[in-house]
Amino acid sequence: MNKESLTITDNRTGVAYEVPLFKGNIRARDLKQIRRDPEDFGVMSYDPAFLNTASCQSKVTFIDGDQGILRYRGYPIEQLAERCTFLEVAYLLIFGELPDSEQLREWVNAITHHTMIPEYTKKGLEGFRHDAHPMGMLISTVAALSTVYPEAKNVIDPEVRRLQIIRLIAKMPTLAAYAYRHSLGYPYIYPDNDLNYAENFLNMMWKMVEPKYVANPVLARALDILFILHADHEQNCSTNTMRCIGSAQTDPYLSVAGAASALSGPLHGRANEEVLHMLDEIGSKDRIPAFVKGVKEGHGKLMGFGHRVYKNYDPRARIIKWTAEKVFEVTGRNPKLDIALELERIALEDEYFIQRKLYPNVDFYSGIIYQAMGFKPEMFTVLFAIPRTAGWLAQWEEMIRDPEQKIARPRQVYVGNGVREVVQTREKVTR
Ligand code: ACO
Repeated sequence: MNKESLTITDNRTGVAYEVPLFKGNIRARDLKQIRRDPEDFGVMSYDPAFLNTASCQSKVTFIDGDQGILRYRGYPIEQLAERCTFLEVAYLLIFGELPDSEQLREWVNAITHHTMIPEYTKKGLEGFRHDAHPMGMLISTVAALSTVYPEAKNVIDPEVRRLQIIRLIAKMPTLAAYAYRHSLGYPYIYPDNDLNYAENFLNMMWKMVEPKYVANPVLARALDILFILHADHEQNCSTNTMRCIGSAQTDPYLSVAGAASALSGPLHGRANEEVLHMLDEIGSKDRIPAFVKGVKEGHGKLMGFGHRVYKNYDPRARIIKWTAEKVFEVTGRNPKLDIALELERIALEDEYFIQRKLYPNVDFYSGIIYQAMGFKPEMFTVLFAIPRTAGWLAQWEEMIRDPEQKIARPRQVYVGNGVREVVQTREKVTR
């Protein structure tokens, strides 16, 4: 017998059910037929934090966590990082194929001509405190764009979606740079259409009074590579948020704001900022053993270590280490690198980390590079959100086109009180 199905026997009733396998998986819906009696709701799958639940079919990104493999649309991340620009990769993620020369020209032209944000949105930044976290400013201003482009709510129209995708990929660097300039009290720098995506971002970040900002080509390329590495990572916390909000047919500006909010958590995209704080706290190599001992005793986590999916090395961390060398040739070595390398060495030899398969993830080294390039730790998650916007939008587009998708609405296992009566024992408060 070789059938693509499972037979499940309900030991409460003795009834056996044959459940078909769909690409090697059961559909949770098929469990509902398993009932103790006709009034029973039926069996559900219970999976807090989606440890073993696929929420969609996707053709965007493939990860094999045990082998340390990451591919976008079938292309290994190593080749994309070496041979492509971020905008080519963004096109690949969204449209499924690498662009030909004409498609690339049109795409780059379209992105380049949508980088401006309206002056009133820019002025809105003035309402933030001088020390506001740039991630909060980015999230709020990207949400505000929903009011600027009300047609975006027509998410069923592919042309409307395409225009918002271009606008979002084009405007995220502008919003990010403006958030940074606000925190320093510096004037905002308008985009420069002569520059490529990474160069233009660096221009909006760093330009002072010089008539033309010229980015160091090594640093601009390193940033572009980092953008490629961060562009997508299948159904992670923020992408799942993007799909979940988008499933209500919310417009993409609000959905991206929600996804970016998820990204800003320390267990997700803010880990890169936390790594820097952790390296600061450690301070010197001789204090690493005591720090690691503390982590093992339950005092905090080794930030930048561990991953839900990668139980081998994170392939992005390997490329980042190689990129770091190039950056340090220009900027000089970030002294935190020595602490990080020693920390990695000690952790990878320690039974606690070996047993739990905890390896450096993408965030362990990215912050050290960003800091060497002149970015403040508060900007690290913002630097993650810029390229991840392409991934969020690719997944959102796929979700909207997927006829199987509906508004995302999980079930729960209710464990609260049974019905009870309100008894008025308190004195009434009229206000
Ligand atoms: N330091 C120390 N111990 C850790 C770490 C860590 N960084 N990560 C996991 N563990 C331990 C847990 O305490 C747990 O130990 P236990 O079995 O004794 O209870 C075990 O390893 C398994 O950990 P889980 O929390 O079950 O793993 P999960 O898959 O849920 O979490 C996560 C993954 C959130 C990334 C976790 O490893 C973590 O918090 N890492 C630090 C934050 C971080 O770097 N996040 C960035 C992730 S990459 C990204 O989002 C871009």
